[in-house]
Amino acid sequence: MNIALIGYGYWGPNLARNILEIDEARLVGICEMNPARLERARSLYGDRVEIYTDNYKDLILHPDVDAVVIATQTEPSYQIIMESLHAGKHCFIEKPIASTVERAENIKKIAEESRLIVHCDHIMVFNPIIRYVKKMLDNGELGELMYIDISRINLGPIRKDVNAMLDLAVHDIAVIDYLSNGEQPNGLSALGQVLYGSQESITYLTLKYPNFIAHIKSSWVSPMKERRMMIAGSKKMVIFDDVKLTEKLTIYDHGFDITSYEEYGHYEVETRTGDIFIPNIKYEDSLKNSVLHFVECFRNNNLSLTGPDHSLRVMRILEEAMNSLRK
Ligand SMILES: NC(=O)c1ccc[n+]([C@@H]2O[C@H](COP(=O)([O-])OP(=O)(O)OC[C@H]3O[C@@H](n4cnc5c(N)ncnc54)[C@H](O)[C@@H]3O)[C@@H](O)[C@H]2O)c1
Repeated sequence: MNIALIGYGYWGPNLARNILEIDEARLVGICEMNPARLERARSLYGDRVEIYTDNYKDLILHPDVDAVVIATQTEPSYQIIMESLHAGKHCFIEKPIASTVERAENIKKIAEESRLIVHCDHIMVFNPIIRYVKKMLDNGELGELMYIDISRINLGPIRKDVNAMLDLAVHDIAVIDYLSNGEQPNGLSALGQVLYGSQESITYLTLKYPNFIAHIKSSWVSPMKERRMMIAGSKKMVIFDDVKLTEKLTIYDHGFDITSYEEYGHYEVETRTGDIFIPNIKYEDSLKNSVLHFVECFRNNNLSLTGPDHSLRVMRILEEAMNSLRK
């Protein structure tokens, strides 16, 4: 797969490195309009990759290019995505897929009509621990999903084009969509506070699904970094702490046993505290897995797991959450 990368800011260099590490992928060119960042790309890769300044259209139309990886800010990405799809190029899109549902729908429509792969970089879906938890849910080990409680907080960067929810909670909503096989909430509420600049830098989002509830805290204004998910099933509960270097997943055989008695309506709820288990899950780079998945979709002519349908469901929740925030 011959790839063009547009946007070489904070995240673009990680994408470039991963693309270059994959045997079945070739990085044809990098386009970046900021001269200092462009120089950084040129000094690292100028000998093997073509470097473009503000002329991303030329790179998209490059005859060798099969796919475009878009790592600009969310706002300018839409036009680049649409031009890439119209030029018949597959797209790897940085999250969120677009700034509105309407835009996400347009992306989905063109991708489907042109039979092109659209992959949104919801990297947590490609995290080995999330995949492990998904297996526990699918094989019944966790029981029924009861609630999910997530904290994704750190110090900066303060973004100007999106708020903390669009920037951070998008990962968590994508994970909930993946774990629940695309369930949609039937109610939500969001609160946030603008602390610096014009966007909410701290947000609290609560989602009510038909059979479980989820709460997501997102912040750029925290003295400590936290990446913690508590996922409670009716049989077992797990805590995924992504800040830890090892032993990131802890499985608690904890819960409640209900004993019912003959008399109508009489029952006892007893606490059950069983074993605590830390599985040995092999480290894998989620971003590398995400890029690999995109390349494999191209090779096997498959749809991406985080393609337009999944991304649109995530976007619908985010847009409704933004409306709730504005109210
Ligand atoms: N998947 C993840 O975990 C993850 C992590 C961080 C960032 N991101 C996403 O990556 C994207 C970029 O974030 P960032 O932090 O790197 O932002 P950034 O502002 O640091 O970088 C974006 C770069 O795109 C360049 N750019 C914008 N328009 C351009 C154009 N028309 N032609 C060429 N270059 C252009 C800018 O000059 C800038 O250097 C965002 O969508 C963000 O949400 C994803």
